[in-house]
Amino acid sequence: MNIICNVNGREIAVETRPDKKLSALLRDDLNLKGLRKGCGSGRCGSCLILLDDQLVASCLIPAFAARHKNIVTIEGFSQTKEFTDIVTAFKEAGVHLCSYCAPARVLSTAYMLRKHIMPTEEQINDIISSVQCRCSSFSHLKKGIVQASIHFSRRKDNG
Ligand code: FES
Ligand code: FES
Repeated sequence: MNIICNVNGREIAVETRPDKKLSALLRDDLNLKGLRKGCGSGRCGSCLILLDDQLVASCLIPAFAARHKNIVTIEGFSQTKEFTDIVTAFKEAGVHLCSYCAPARVLSTAYMLRKHIMPTEEQINDIISSVQCRCSSFSHLKKGIVQASIHFSRRKDNG
């Protein structure tokens, strides 16, 4: 079956099968390797993407469900000012991420800050938990996200 969708700002037509997951379509067919192959069952968060502005685990979504939808992966998101805000904030807060989790961490942070520019502690904890990682410090991540919210707010204030 052929589907049309918008990937990182470009409308594309792509062939898929009913049993293909969106993560496989993006990684294997469209060569968007920023999203990672992880648990394959919605638990680890390494395959997170934005689908019509919702944060979703792409390993749980059939590729055909992306028909006529807007997909943003880290490759597209990295062209935005929000990406620069988050990466800068993480650096300032001393957050060190490996290349395995960084794409999902950045996208999930952006998703939350778009909804809650001044997130509560609970919202921050929830978004941190959406991406599994045992190697970076929780408190650094928290600091990084708070710092990112400051960058988001400043940019909003400056128009
Ligand atoms: S690979 Fe999708 S949540 Fe783990
Ligand atoms: S999995 Fe990437 S820093 Fe822990």
